[in-house]
Amino acid sequence: MSYSLENFCDDTRSILLASDNHDGRNTIRQKFELLLGDDTFCAAYVGPNEDPGVRQIYEDPDMHFCVLAYNMAAARNSPPHDHGESWAIYGQTAGYTDMTVWSVDSDEGSIEPLKTFRLEPGQAGLFDVREIHSISYAAGSKFVRVTGVDMNLETRRVFDPETGAIREIEQVGTDKA
Ligand SMILES: [Fe+2]
Repeated sequence: MSYSLENFCDDTRSILLASDNHDGRNTIRQKFELLLGDDTFCAAYVGPNEDPGVRQIYEDPDMHFCVLAYNMAAARNSPPHDHGESWAIYGQTAGYTDMTVWSVDSDEGSIEPLKTFRLEPGQAGLFDVREIHSISYAAGSKFVRVTGVDMNLETRRVFDPETGAIREIEQVGTDKA
């Protein structure tokens, strides 16, 4: 059965209207995996001939969630970060992405890795509001990301993993992570 970007966005809208909470976002993550498995969707947005880079492929006019396609030529390790008041779901379509979840020790002013997991093609991972994560992907990786809002309008935190120092980032332009 095919499952299009339009199907996914319709479902996401309905789910957020009914339950804009962790359970609802996890249901969106499950729907996202249906989209990652759709050959027509993958060919259109994360196919082998896509130009390298990041491209926004949908923004909801009313609820403002955004879908971005990532066709990444080079490998990258992101610093630990959150997405401000937004949740984020990453979904792999080619290559892999290693995800690390971090915890903050506010007394020590440091951050520590909590767990790491690998997203393989067809798998999606949810990071809820303020959940700190870093991503590491191989050259040639392709993935799609959904956020609750346009991240270009959201202030987010980026952490130095060695010192725990926090920078607040606004207006990140084409957001890489
Ligand atoms: Fe992120």
